[in-house]
Amino acid sequence: NAILNSYYDINKEIMMFFYKNLLTNKEAQIYLKNRGFSSSVVNTFMLGYAKNSWDDLLNFVKKKDYLLEDIQKLGLIKKTENGRYYDKYRNRLIFPIINHYGKVIGFGGRSIDNSMPKYLNSPESEVFKKRYNLYGLNIYKKQNTKDIILVEGYMDVMGLNNQGIDIAVASLGTALTHDQAKLLKRYADNVYICYDQDSAGIKATDRAIEILLDEDIKARVIKLEDGLDPDDFVKKYGKDVFKERMEEADDVYNYKYNKILDIYASSNKNEKLDKLNLFIEFLASIRSDLTREIFINNVSKLFNIEKQTLKQSILKYNENYT
Ligand code: CTP
Ligand code: MN
Ligand code: MN
Ligand code: MN
Ligand code: MN
Repeated sequence: NAILNSYYDINKEIMMFFYKNLLTNKEAQIYLKNRGFSSSVVNTFMLGYAKNSWDDLLNFVKKKDYLLEDIQKLGLIKKTENGRYYDKYRNRLIFPIINHYGKVIGFGGRSIDNSMPKYLNSPESEVFKKRYNLYGLNIYKKQNTKDIILVEGYMDVMGLNNQGIDIAVASLGTALTHDQAKLLKRYADNVYICYDQDSAGIKATDRAIEILLDEDIKARVIKLEDGLDPDDFVKKYGKDVFKERMEEADDVYNYKYNKILDIYASSNKNEKLDKLNLFIEFLASIRSDLTREIFINNVSKLFNIEKQTLKQSILKYNENYT
């Protein structure tokens, strides 16, 4: 598609424009340094910087004879009510988003002066379709591994890479889509979910698990202590401790089971039997006969219920809910 290709070319040119800005901007370089990044991440991720200006990029694209409507469509400039264009990204660190074919499809911009919002991103367009892409997949592709770490954001991918872990990709926010899951499956065999350990991240982990199970993808869940996100964690504890957490990561079934066990353990004597339906629901969700059998064993012992009785309840549950 010729039009699409010309959009990619424009984005690439603008990526280089931001990149050159960063090479000469002390403030942005200091921001990176203060966050513990070595200068090599700039080239690895082709990072850039948007100057604290309303028309730095605008003047650049005007010189290039691009149609300003196109640049606006790509989400790089905006228009006032009076029809005047201005730069969307100002005083921001720029993350180009490069897809698995190597095309520059969009940009994320992080404020470096505490101004809100923290991130600005490319709008949805025929060039940038967030739900079909994973940030960092272009770099992951070059690694010789079938393990992949799924994180929330740009900084997590970069923070892990900065510590020598170059197999992370980000869903760009907390909502993993089915299309992104299919992309994971295409390139990897073993997904390590490593979302932020805050309430949004924990909820998103549960949703991601269901989507990965839907797509029949083998997955595990990395737990990081202190409520840290992967970037902050690896900075604080280093690569080796992170790798230990990877090795300790529960597969999704054990993760789900342990969560219900916690609920069960913390409920009082009278509530305990009520929790049986959580276990039935869990058992009913397991597609693999072998895996289901293993957990039926556990639940059977836990409640002192015959396995046959549990199997009947699972059947009944499936009849009622699917
Ligand atoms: N995000 C976004 N817009 C926001 C907040 C978040 O697009 N206002 C997306 C970004 O892709 C971001 C990801 O969600 O990378 C995760 O968000 P968050 O955990 O809040 O940010 P961090 O990646 O941890 O960034 P930082 O360490 O700089 O705070
Ligand atoms: Mn988060
Ligand atoms: Mn689904
Ligand atoms: Mn985070
Ligand atoms: Mn962070």
